[in-house]
Amino acid sequence: MNRKAREIAPMLRGLSFNGEKGDIVVCKDSIDYAELTCTAEELPEKFEKGMRSVIVEGAGAFLLGEDYDDAVNGTSNAIKLEGRAAVVHNKVCVVTGGAQGFGEGIVRSLIQNGALVFIADMNVGGAKKLAQDLNEQAGRTVAFGVAVNVTDEDSVKGMVDEVVKTTGGIDLFVSNAGVLKAGSVKELSLKDFEFVTDVNYVGFFLCTKHAAPVMELMNKPQGNYYTDIVSISSKSALEGSNKNGAYAGSKFGSVGLVQSFAKELVVDNTKVNTVCPGNFFDGPLWSDPERGLFVQYLNTGKVPGAKTIEDVRRFYEAQIPMNRGCDGEDVTKAIMYSVEQKYETGQAIPVTGGQVMLN
Ligand SMILES: NC(=O)c1ccc[n+]([C@@H]2O[C@H](COP(=O)([O-])OP(=O)(O)OC[C@H]3O[C@@H](n4cnc5c(N)ncnc54)[C@H](O)[C@@H]3O)[C@@H](O)[C@H]2O)c1
Repeated sequence: MNRKAREIAPMLRGLSFNGEKGDIVVCKDSIDYAELTCTAEELPEKFEKGMRSVIVEGAGAFLLGEDYDDAVNGTSNAIKLEGRAAVVHNKVCVVTGGAQGFGEGIVRSLIQNGALVFIADMNVGGAKKLAQDLNEQAGRTVAFGVAVNVTDEDSVKGMVDEVVKTTGGIDLFVSNAGVLKAGSVKELSLKDFEFVTDVNYVGFFLCTKHAAPVMELMNKPQGNYYTDIVSISSKSALEGSNKNGAYAGSKFGSVGLVQSFAKELVVDNTKVNTVCPGNFFDGPLWSDPERGLFVQYLNTGKVPGAKTIEDVRRFYEAQIPMNRGCDGEDVTKAIMYSVEQKYETGQAIPVTGGQVMLN
């Protein structure tokens, strides 16, 4: 995709904005027939809502539609949703670290709510496989798998380009990819500290750096296109975590980024918020039978008197007023709230079953 197309596609999504979202815009090198052929300068004046094919000189060709299948082959069968569920309907969402864990739960919930989701993960095989399964289940295009390493700027830029080329923009960017290396401050290696900081903190900066300009371009034509960046931090962004300083530090730091980016990007109608989940006991981090935290804590005797994995789990569940761990659906409800709410930005939303409360 050339530089001009990278700017024209989000502009077309912005020009076709209907008060909720714009059309999906698929970039092509060429098409046989176009309803409009014009220069980039002429586009804002000559484009009319409902146009389905446009050629912009020097940029390329663009197909438009309500959803991806509608744009590509005119077969829209998008489900009709109302109320809170309609909040992400036919919106383009990106979920980093979406191949497993919380990310996978968020991907599934967003798709249930009618979104088109890019599963952006270092585990590109896992991301593509999940997208394929979800598309088969839905009987239409609801997901794409795309490679990204959020610590590598070229990789993040390439991922954002791929999203723009395929759909014309990004309505909701969920920065979820994250890692944890626990350890005492007296012993943790600098390498491990930097690894955690790079993924959880620098990765969020790089993703925002490259997603925000696309959102700005979408908002430009009409000035009322709200977009969202939501980071998934942790309850450890609100309260320190014993022998887990690298993680808590990176998550606290990401709240500082959220607040600062929110203040800056408000001019583009881009809201920036973070969701602070409690522990996801059913996910691989805790429940992996070989490397999960339950097995590790059982083997190291961290929970006094615990004889089985179930004992360890109960010990941690008992610390939560609502008596259970968090899951992807809980987190998605908070994401949907941030998208729906047009009068709030820069906030950290706890989803902890009452375990950590705001001061
Ligand atoms: N699991 C929990 O209990 C819990 C609790 C609170 C917050 N969180 C946060 O939720 C997010 C997801 O956690 P999880 O437990 O589901 O993680 P997970 O380890 O199950 O999955 C993380 C995903 O991110 C991907 N990933 C890792 N590094 C990446 C990189 N550099 N670039 C792109 N992708 C990368 C992995 O391939 C994987 O698919 C993290 O930010 C984590 O800090 C987790």
